[in-house]
Amino acid sequence: MLLALWSPKGGSGTSVVAAALALVSAGRVDETHLADLGGDQPAILGLPVPDCGFGSARPSEGLTGWLAAGPSMPTDCLDEMSVAVVPGLTLLPCGSDIAADRLPEEGGAALAVGLRDGGIAVLDAGPSRGSDQGAAFAAIEVADATLMVIRPCYLALRKAVGDPRLARSAGAILVEDPGRALDADDVAAVLGVPVLGRVPVRAEIARAVDAGVLRDRLPGPLADSTDAILDRLADMAGGRWAA
Ligand SMILES: Nc1ncnc2c1ncn2[C@@H]1O[C@H](COP(=O)(O)OP(=O)(O)OP(=O)(O)O)[C@@H](O)[C@H]1O
Ligand SMILES: [Mg+2]
Repeated sequence: MLLALWSPKGGSGTSVVAAALALVSAGRVDETHLADLGGDQPAILGLPVPDCGFGSARPSEGLTGWLAAGPSMPTDCLDEMSVAVVPGLTLLPCGSDIAADRLPEEGGAALAVGLRDGGIAVLDAGPSRGSDQGAAFAAIEVADATLMVIRPCYLALRKAVGDPRLARSAGAILVEDPGRALDADDVAAVLGVPVLGRVPVRAEIARAVDAGVLRDRLPGPLADSTDAILDRLADMAGGRWAA
């Protein structure tokens, strides 16, 4: 089962939500993978930036190296590049700094099929360019569920409605900073998809990310909201998600 997360606007909290969902999922089921197309996951999870040598691609290229090599790269290489995060959770690191929407679609689709068939997987689709091409979009198309991560922000909503990934999205996760004029109902009405989860913006979450301690101590508000999102996904998928 593959859940893909994307955002129409940078800095929305996509990578933090992806990390939290993967950590909570790992606590529920044996095998969870977090695939990082943005490059921030090692820092968010407090891991050293990994040296991910595999196959014939150059070391340190990670997922972007695998994607660049095309669909002929065996999926075994994905296992070889995996880094243990906590029991039950492995990270597929991003590798070199190439935007995944510039990498071939065939690789993205092959990655998503590999992830979909290998337990529970969360894909951090990386920073947005609003493109309907490239590996990240192809992976989103193959994912079992795709969710947009968005703040209740007019500028983000404007971008979201013109983004081709919206049509692939089953819903939105709202990262709610206090004091906004727009609420979850407004966001759902504009996007035409339901808000399936609400994650509060809290100083304790930002501090845990900054300190690299998220994997050891998921702040309560983030753990609770992530738990609720996984429950919602489990309901939607008839229990196929970690329940
Ligand atoms: N729920 C939250 N509460 C407080 N701070 C948060 C929360 N979620 C994310 N942040 C902070 O917001 C910033 C952006 O978060 P994050 O990197 O997850 O966003 P992103 O959408 O993945 O950005 P990018 O477009 O760069 O990939 C970070 O400083 C992070 O610590
Ligand atoms: Mg990110």
